[in-house]
Amino acid sequence: MLSTLRIASRQAGAVRRASSVFGVQAARAGSTWANVPQGPPAILGITEAFKADSFEKKINLGVGAYRDDKGKPYVLPSVREAEQKVVAAKLNKEYAGITGVPEFTKAAAVLAYGKDSSALDRLAITQSISGTGALRIGAAFLERFYPGEKTIYIPNPSWANHKAVFSDAGLKVKQYSYYDKNTIGLDFNGMLADIKAAPKGSMFLFHACAHNPTGVDPTEEQWKQISQAVKDQGHFAFFDMAYQGFASGSTDKDAFALRYFIEQGHNVCLAQSFAKNMGLYGERVGAFSIVGADAEEKKRIDSQIKILVRPLYSNPPVHGARIASEILNTPALYQQWLGEVKEMADRIITMRALLKDNLEKLGSAHDWSHITSQIGMFAYTGLDAPSMEKLAKEHSVYATKDGRISVAGITTDNVGRLAEAIYKVKG
Ligand SMILES: Cc1ncc(COP(=O)(O)O)c(C=O)c1O
Repeated sequence: MLSTLRIASRQAGAVRRASSVFGVQAARAGSTWANVPQGPPAILGITEAFKADSFEKKINLGVGAYRDDKGKPYVLPSVREAEQKVVAAKLNKEYAGITGVPEFTKAAAVLAYGKDSSALDRLAITQSISGTGALRIGAAFLERFYPGEKTIYIPNPSWANHKAVFSDAGLKVKQYSYYDKNTIGLDFNGMLADIKAAPKGSMFLFHACAHNPTGVDPTEEQWKQISQAVKDQGHFAFFDMAYQGFASGSTDKDAFALRYFIEQGHNVCLAQSFAKNMGLYGERVGAFSIVGADAEEKKRIDSQIKILVRPLYSNPPVHGARIASEILNTPALYQQWLGEVKEMADRIITMRALLKDNLEKLGSAHDWSHITSQIGMFAYTGLDAPSMEKLAKEHSVYATKDGRISVAGITTDNVGRLAEAIYKVKG
């Protein structure tokens, strides 16, 4: 039985709630933000549905981060060691310069372009808030200084944030053909045709490796033809390299397209991320660089990058960049890290093979070879939206509706159940 005191306090609570609801409504009518519309909940959809599912063998293939074979987030041992060294050094917490920690950006440039690259002496580079920040600085620079049409062509499909980043920075965004849904592979002819058809001097964004979301990359031979077509048209290439080392297991191999373009005389720009290949997701470590014609041009570009960055965030955070710098500049740690990147890439490659094997063993009539021919964290399964919905509703397997699965979410433990679920949905 409720005591008189508790009844009184409940009634008071009800009155308070009613008046506060009324108050909120009244305030809302005259609020400064009364006209701010509710945004769509799209991005959180998978995580929320996954969390709400109580089935213990549920599988989350929507995450954009590496997981170990137990399905757990992974901190690289080289990163742990570098971090301990950084902490032990008891460095001060003073501001970095506008373009960040110089030992980091110097080493990041060597990692991307290669230690003997002709680009290194004429490269304006700045630390950035991971890959997204690098893209955004790049977009702002192009919007301010690109001498041609302020339109950038991105692949169809592309990482969902590309369009938002570029258009928020004031560029127009158009698409070029990339993915062929019939072959679940590259629409190479369509891509070349679109590069050739775009007005001369257009800007093109290329995923340097491990194309997100499709996992479909051009071959080295195809990159050579793409480079030629871009050159013939006088286009400008912007490389987004968010997965260097993560695709093939080799940081050099994954940088092929970028380095080939440089060899061929393209003065490109580049967004780098250390989120995936160092597992530094939340530390937000990245770099943006532009290759100038010579050292004098680099100096001018550099001055303008500083003018752009200063009113955005003054200067970038130092901790993550110090960790990455420690790894890149300490030979033994660097070698260890290369091994760890390869281990992550190899686990992904193994999971692709296991998923395909399991589907074939179940007697699936479909050709699943694209699962192993694609590369990087994501696989484009070719499953349509209703099939993905069925996977979620009937089998507790969660991924995006476009049929993209994060291979990082597959483990030796869940791959069998995943294959069965796909087989039940697709046959
Ligand atoms: C193609 C591509 N570019 C850039 C990024 C940027 O990531 P971050 O800002 O975490 O470095 C991602 C992340 O998923 C990506 O897939």
